[in-house]
Amino acid sequence: MQRFANLTTLVTGAGQGIGFAIAERFAAEGAHVLLADIKESTLIEAEEKLRAAGYSASRYAFDVSSPDQVDEAISRMIGERGEIHILANNAGIASEEPFVDIPDERWRRMIDVNLNGMFYVAQRVSRAMVRQGKGTIVNMASTNGLVGEAGYAHYNASKGGVVLLTKTMAIELGRSGIRVNAVCPGYIVTPLSASIDSEGVVERYVERYIPLGRTGKPEDVASVFAFLASDDAAFITGECIVVDGGQLAF
Ligand SMILES: NC(=O)c1ccc[n+]([C@@H]2O[C@H](COP(=O)([O-])OP(=O)(O)OC[C@H]3O[C@@H](n4cnc5c(N)ncnc54)[C@H](O)[C@@H]3O)[C@@H](O)[C@H]2O)c1
Repeated sequence: MQRFANLTTLVTGAGQGIGFAIAERFAAEGAHVLLADIKESTLIEAEEKLRAAGYSASRYAFDVSSPDQVDEAISRMIGERGEIHILANNAGIASEEPFVDIPDERWRRMIDVNLNGMFYVAQRVSRAMVRQGKGTIVNMASTNGLVGEAGYAHYNASKGGVVLLTKTMAIELGRSGIRVNAVCPGYIVTPLSASIDSEGVVERYVERYIPLGRTGKPEDVASVFAFLASDDAAFITGECIVVDGGQLAF
């Protein structure tokens, strides 16, 4: 399938994990991919991997939580590419700690990256899309944006914010030809989830909570980003698709 031939897709948090899988999927379907990440080293590796596979990609290192850096990067992308047709707004962080122990600094950083960062990038790209009169945006939320989970008050609050940001953007931008949706993954194995796992916990979690009997792969999420961004989803906007192996069916 080449659903994105001649289209430009910006993927934030593209250096590793789900973001890299999204970038790879769009590139494989013909897009030129703008790889964005705060970590230059992973970005360089990601760009090399995509180019080695014969795909078209370029990289931009910036912090999504800095409005100045976002402004500068998006202007540079538009200067170099002309238009951004698709935004996969994926960059995010997570950590686990009891609600009563969350330091203010960590609360602020979580909201700054996961919610404010998503807003800065989405708003700047939307302005360009409104001028173009078309575009699709897919925001990264989480099952944790739909239901609570102990130990993740800051993360859950940030992802719950993304869900309603998505719905409101869809309402405001629909008449400008822009569709906005979100993806809510459950347990996906990536460097981020590995960093908050402890021994044996994953097996017990899968056994107890995931009807399909396995954890998710980054590719399971990337394919849903591609679906939502494509014309296959032409009449879908303001939606949040859960990709969790059935966990929320309980
Ligand atoms: N892994 C899961 O189980 C899971 C489940 C639901 C939702 N998600 C969401 O998916 C997204 C990707 O998660 P992942 O598991 O691939 O994580 P990851 O840590 O493997 O990758 C995240 C990427 O985002 C980049 N990043 C972090 N802060 C940034 C910033 N301020 N500016 C720009 N880039 C930044 C990192 O450098 C990294 O390359 C996140 O938004 C996460 O909340 C993950």
